[in-house]
Amino acid sequence: MRKLTNILVTGGAGFIGCNFIHVLLQKTPGFKGRIVNLDALTYAGNAASLADIDAEFGGKRYFFEHADITDRAAVETVFKKYDIDTVIHFAAESHVDRSIVGPEAFIKTNVMGTFTLLDVARNFWKDRQDVLFHHISTDEVYGSLGETGFFTETTPYDPRSPYSASKASSDHLVFAYHHTYGLPVTLSNCSNNYGPYHFPEKLIPLMILNILDGKPLPVYGDGKNIRDWLFVEDHNTAVWAIVNKGHTGEKYNIGGENEWTNIDLLQRLIDIVAAKAKLDPEKVRSTITYVKDRPGHDRRYAIDCSKLKRELGWKQSVTFEQGLAFTVDWYLANPEWVKNVRSGDYKKWLENNYARR
Ligand code: NAD
Ligand code: DAU
Repeated sequence: MRKLTNILVTGGAGFIGCNFIHVLLQKTPGFKGRIVNLDALTYAGNAASLADIDAEFGGKRYFFEHADITDRAAVETVFKKYDIDTVIHFAAESHVDRSIVGPEAFIKTNVMGTFTLLDVARNFWKDRQDVLFHHISTDEVYGSLGETGFFTETTPYDPRSPYSASKASSDHLVFAYHHTYGLPVTLSNCSNNYGPYHFPEKLIPLMILNILDGKPLPVYGDGKNIRDWLFVEDHNTAVWAIVNKGHTGEKYNIGGENEWTNIDLLQRLIDIVAAKAKLDPEKVRSTITYVKDRPGHDRRYAIDCSKLKRELGWKQSVTFEQGLAFTVDWYLANPEWVKNVRSGDYKKWLENNYARR
């Protein structure tokens, strides 16, 4: 039986991690334990995303530790200080475009950081079996699909970007620690998330904010690349189901069963944002700008998540229409959050690396 009492969430100040902490502390009455959020607060981490959590649970059931997952001594201290019995490992460098212009940080955090966490957990837990290391991974490790077919849990790995190669490496390390040392692990590979607190370098928040600001809407290549979109809260309920009931040593695919070409998604988003913000949709459409393609741009991702549904009874809770409407409303209601995250290296990054726009 897993303890699930003192949970170390890494990367809890990022997009998916902060949504996970909200779900667990505010919407999961069965969870009575403590969460320790260990985050280095890179450009993608934002402590303000958890201000409400800190106000309600800080020092009681929520604790923040500003540290880097590659810092072994710091990680060891956190394990001891809170007697950690569960790790839910979200922390990563997560943006494919950044991995193309600066891969080193991806190797450091995603490979070395995951190694450090695994090794500290192994030494701290020894042979305990009431503990769990859950690793959050991506469907991008499987490579790119043609027009048909789906990624299953047995699809061979074929990563193509420095980001996906670093995530594939970390996945292999997780299972290596299970097979070699008996570390109790589970792993999930998820498709594209969207929702509140999403850093606006990623497609959906970038487009929402550019539409509102009247800026060009940059579409890579022919706009026909396909992604499978999942509402972030549904990702997180799946993670919690796996952490509670998933079989040790196994992996689970998580997906939205919701494939869209980038251009069709953008057209839908324009309709939604324009209606809510009272903009002329045709005028907004005229700002769509086809730009140079992402190097090595994977054509299509599509997830078969039937194992998760069948074995753990999980399912998506919202339609794409509902999730997108909720997300657009959230960005409209939170201009301060947007201003805050854009004040860091965001502007510099766009200027330096998006010259093609
Ligand atoms: P994000 O970039 O929004 O957040 C990453 C968080 O990790 C930030 O808070 C950052 O400060 C922290 N971090 C980065 N390097 C760190 C380090 N060395 N030490 C400690 N903290 C560090 O990422 P996200 O979109 O929330 O993704 C979370 C996880 O989910 C990642 O592992 C990613 O690979 C995976 N994933 C993301 C998606 C998606 O659509 N966003 C889909 C599938 C899987
Ligand atoms: O599939 C899961 C992955 O989804 C996660 O592992 C990654 O962490 C996450 O960032 C995401 O990766 P993508 O590369 O799919 O997401 P992104 O939002 O960067 O791009 C989505 C699609 O939109 C992709 O085909 C590239 C395209 N795109 C993106 C941007 C930022 C554009 O056409 N224009 C843009 O400006």
